[in-house]
Amino acid sequence: MKLFLYHIPEEVPDHTTPDCAIAIDVLRATSTIAAALEAGAEAIQVFSDIDELLSVSATWPQDKCLRAGERGGAKVEGCDLGNSPLDHSVETSEGKRLFMSTTNGTRCLKRIEHAPTVITAALTTRKAVVDFLLAHTPETVWLVGSGWEGTYSLEDTVCAGAIIHGIMTATGQSFKDLAGNDAAIAAVSLYLQWQDQLLELMHYASHGQRLLRLDNEADLKYCAQLDVLDVVPIQRTAGVLVR
Ligand code: MLT
Repeated sequence: MKLFLYHIPEEVPDHTTPDCAIAIDVLRATSTIAAALEAGAEAIQVFSDIDELLSVSATWPQDKCLRAGERGGAKVEGCDLGNSPLDHSVETSEGKRLFMSTTNGTRCLKRIEHAPTVITAALTTRKAVVDFLLAHTPETVWLVGSGWEGTYSLEDTVCAGAIIHGIMTATGQSFKDLAGNDAAIAAVSLYLQWQDQLLELMHYASHGQRLLRLDNEADLKYCAQLDVLDVVPIQRTAGVLVR
């Protein structure tokens, strides 16, 4: 297995496709996708464009439909929910399809949707993602951070580092065996430095600070948890993720 980290979707090479592509948006899209599936959502359907989300979701049975829209960290008018993982419980989400559009996370998923296997990862699901990779042993894996509007995000990189570190620990393999690029090696160092202070790291991160200004400290606390959900969201058809 060779693991390549791309900090933002724009870094992903055009000319090639990996066996498995992993979208990471710790704050908060991929944490929310995992939380919704854990709460029993039927599927998550992602959109880059809010108008397309609204028109496609209008064709779905309305009692089985939740619309989640986020721009700049805030809920989009006309949607039922913003992008908080804490919005999802069995009561709100079980059996429903979540139609979702966020600033960066869903855009990242759209960028990699042509890979033969597409999954999402968050700190909350790190161990489940490591176990998935160990079970399926894809030859090439892209870990793709969502970043923020074309710039690097600390929390996505630390999550990529946590996954790579998890594979190294489980297999005893070294960077020589596993690292596909320099970014993958740097991400492990970042994770090892911050592994016991993940919430503190989120408070320093620029998008963490944006969410704190929007009064979302509870989301930071939720998203900073490591290995708490045994769920791997996987793409079933382009743009549609299931458990
Ligand atoms: C995104 O897609 O940019 C994020 O998930 C933003 C957010 O925190 O809602």
